[in-house]
Amino acid sequence: MTGRFIVFEGGEGTGKSTQVRLLTETLDTRGIASVVTREPGGTAGAEAIRSLLLNPPGEGWGPQAEAMLFAAARSDHINKLIKPAVAEGKWVLCDRYLDSSRAYQGGAGAVGDDAILTLHDIGSEGLLPDLTLLIDVPADQVAARLKKRDGDVSDAIGGRDAAYHAAVNRTFRKIAEAEPDRFRIIDGQGSIEEVHQKVRDAIDSWTDFE
Ligand code: TYD
Repeated sequence: MTGRFIVFEGGEGTGKSTQVRLLTETLDTRGIASVVTREPGGTAGAEAIRSLLLNPPGEGWGPQAEAMLFAAARSDHINKLIKPAVAEGKWVLCDRYLDSSRAYQGGAGAVGDDAILTLHDIGSEGLLPDLTLLIDVPADQVAARLKKRDGDVSDAIGGRDAAYHAAVNRTFRKIAEAEPDRFRIIDGQGSIEEVHQKVRDAIDSWTDFE
């Protein structure tokens, strides 16, 4: 039996990590084994690249170098963790994946979608998730949440200006609308439990495992 590969996407502070954790608990109660992972990261090599990306040495990376580092981390993650876990029949729940590179580096960072997809072909044979849940929260609400979560401390990418993050959110929506079969857009407003219910509804309407 093969498993599933499900990704949570969205801008900063949309509550993805919490929703990933709640979904793994729900799957557990249904007898489905899942593995929680994240990008950039998930393997020793990719976690090392993560710290290079989020706390860059010196003056930081240019947009193209940044895109290639994300693609390199993803290649390691796919080959060492995601593919083997899915082959064992597990559901892999991943906090961010390729569409983050398309939205941040491709759209907001102006590297372009074609270049990001080419890097993904080279690094990860173009592997796409079975399902992608885009957690969508209006920018003004996110700003308040982030202030609460991070205070004045943010990483090299999270700390970019509002115009950059607005471009990220626009690009996410554009990608999701262009690929309705692979995406479900989840309204991330409301309580954690309300959003989790929407995630469960999206999963249940997508698969007939119940
Ligand atoms: P993280 O702390 O995981 O952010 P969040 O909690 O908002 O999900 O840091 C990951 C950062 O890396 C985040 O700012 C998004 C960015 N990122 C990219 O720019 N491109 C990518 O391909 C990925 C996976 C993440």
